[in-house]
Amino acid sequence: MKKKILITGGTGYIGSHTTVELIEAGFEAIIIDNLYNSDADVINNIFKITGVRPHLEVLDLCDKENLKRFIGQNKDISAVIHFAAFKAVGESVIKPLDYYRNNLLSLINLLEVMKHFAISNLVFSSSCTVYGQPEKLPVTEDTPLQPATSPYGNTKQIGETIIKDTTISDINVKAISLRYFNPIGAHPSALIGELPRGIPENLVPYLTQTGYGLRDELKVFGNDYNTPDGSCIRDYLHVVDLAKAHVVAIERLTAGRNKANYEVFNLGTGRGVSVFEAIKSFEHVSGKKLKYKVVGRRAGDIEKIWADPSFANKELGWKTLSSLDEAMKTAWDWEKFIRQKKQQL
Ligand code: UFG
Repeated sequence: MKKKILITGGTGYIGSHTTVELIEAGFEAIIIDNLYNSDADVINNIFKITGVRPHLEVLDLCDKENLKRFIGQNKDISAVIHFAAFKAVGESVIKPLDYYRNNLLSLINLLEVMKHFAISNLVFSSSCTVYGQPEKLPVTEDTPLQPATSPYGNTKQIGETIIKDTTISDINVKAISLRYFNPIGAHPSALIGELPRGIPENLVPYLTQTGYGLRDELKVFGNDYNTPDGSCIRDYLHVVDLAKAHVVAIERLTAGRNKANYEVFNLGTGRGVSVFEAIKSFEHVSGKKLKYKVVGRRAGDIEKIWADPSFANKELGWKTLSSLDEAMKTAWDWEKFIRQKKQQL
């Protein structure tokens, strides 16, 4: 019998890639999504990749009664991966209450309903944003957390605390928080990827849209940082590598191989890449010269951060496999795919 995994936010960027990897690893995947920031058509593309059409329940996790009804119909869920959340850093500064309500209420509802039906395994989608600007690099799981620089980041910190406290209060609950560094790229089939609504906030979708001619030029936010080339440094990892880490985390929990009821892992490559290096990588894989302009720093940006992934390497037996160029190439292929698809519509 296949183990049934519930994926909240499973039609989103990381959720859809994780659903594919779970199905390919032999799990049954069922999805809850309110389609606020994603498209139901993603299910068709998951089907094209895997030959399996996961059940999609269009449901808002803030609607607890409906959530209870749905999970009540699926009491045999072995574990939950919780992706569903608002995720735009800048927007969260403008609409903090929306972010706190949505991201925290949905998590609390989920934990309460899981408890009600005695579903005990949870993987939580966290972020390296919880570290703020760390004093020492690379970042390990023991690096002290700094105060969050945005309401979004704060919802990740509070979310982790809520989950940790739940595992302390109820020894039946087991959870893993995965702290992602910067996921980029798309599935090699180019059938699923990131679909930013409107103008992208993140570097790589902005790069690929500029390369495609949708944007005039990329704005590089600052070249006066204390880094080798003056631009900010991040740890960009391929979304498929990231998705595979969720499968490993699920296997660890469902097989009872976890070493504590609450565990945290950094998911990154261990390599810091500057904005200019990311531009070079894009130019290399696309064969295009990118138009860009250096402008002032973006408020709230961290100067540099990259992961020490050795704990995840050792404990989860997971590491990233794709290079920056490979990940960038899939981002570019995906950009071309969605633009061609839009032209056909
Ligand atoms: N950048 C530009 N120009 C752009 C967009 C970004 O120069 O048009 C730069 C940023 O200044 C930063 C780097 O590219 O130096 C990466 O920026 P992103 O917006 O792609 O990523 P962030 O690191 O700011 O944020 C991402 C996710 C958040 C998550 C955070 C964790 O968007 O959800 O990583 O640090 F919380």
